Amino acid sequence: MLVLGIETSCDETACAVVENGERILSNCITSSVSIHEKFGGIVPEVASRYHVEFILPVLEEALKEANVRIGDIDLVAATYGPGLVGSLLTGLNMAKAFSLSQNKPFMAVNHLAAHLYASFLVSPQPELPAVGLIVSGGHTELVLINDFDQMEILGNTRDDAVGEAFDKVAKILGLGYPGGPIIDRLARKGDTKKIKFTSARFKDSLDFSFSGVKTAVLYHVRKQTVISELTAGDINDICAAFQYSVVNVLVDNARRACHRKKINQLVLGGGVSANSSLREKIKELSASDSIKVFIPPVNLCLDNAAMVAGLGFRLYNKPSAKSDLSIEPAPILAL
Ligand code: KG4
Ligand code: ZN
Repeated sequence: MLVLGIETSCDETACAVVENGERILSNCITSSVSIHEKFGGIVPEVASRYHVEFILPVLEEALKEANVRIGDIDLVAATYGPGLVGSLLTGLNMAKAFSLSQNKPFMAVNHLAAHLYASFLVSPQPELPAVGLIVSGGHTELVLINDFDQMEILGNTRDDAVGEAFDKVAKILGLGYPGGPIIDRLARKGDTKKIKFTSARFKDSLDFSFSGVKTAVLYHVRKQTVISELTAGDINDICAAFQYSVVNVLVDNARRACHRKKINQLVLGGGVSANSSLREKIKELSASDSIKVFIPPVNLCLDNAAMVAGLGFRLYNKPSAKSDLSIEPAPILAL
């Protein structure tokens, strides 16, 4: 079965063709991120207009690269939430129009679940049940994945999401947007031990909270800059210490979730799973705790449409399938 996936929840305009939920034939993407850079964050109206302009060329590119014609597609899947409402509207309406005009079935897909599906697009695939850790710009969640339509939330973000914390700390340091990849790069040159930042931990809960560590960075920077300008070395050390504290809490909560549920499969998804330190440290759980860790390749960690097409296939024919053409964008959507 050939599935066309469409993803427009934020600043990426993406289309992909995936066969039988596992073979990626094309995975095309363009992003308005460089336009948002100068504003220090996503400007929703700019993102929406970009989607309208680029969705058709990206769709054509995805079909061409997969070497298939429009009529070869068996199912069209699109993200319906969570995300920016104007952005979601473009991809969702595109998918509905495709479905109506081509007389092909349609599936609406949850973006967060799609992030977890990314690990199922590469081999070896995880087995279910597994624990899932979603680390994206808007979400930090630990879930028990019994199946892709049966997830149980184990831990959630109480304030800032982890990607949001990376982006805000980068802003405090004047590093640009998006901050995650920049902090990741600078942290490699810094000392993790020179400064100590602490990310919140909850004894009886697997929840996360990152606003405290972000504020600690802000106060540290304010204190420092009264005395002197921050040097490049200072900035590297702040990035290293911040990232160290955040990654430790992510790895620790994921480990606790696996032990609590007696599950030895851990699946990562979302933009922050591109982080080199997180990838490295979480893989150590395999030796220390016998937990098999599945992390998608970096291009599948970030927003893409292959994960949407894959999950669309997986959910097709399930009783919970959201295939009604009247479905609306859901900017705030839980798993
Ligand atoms: O999943 P994603 O592409 O979009 C959302 O669904 O939100 O995640 C974007 C987030 C941004 O906050 C970005 O700074 C972060 O992922 N990110 C990273 C890295 N690459 C992207 N954070 C830390 N290290 C990275 N290498
Ligand atoms: Zn995402």
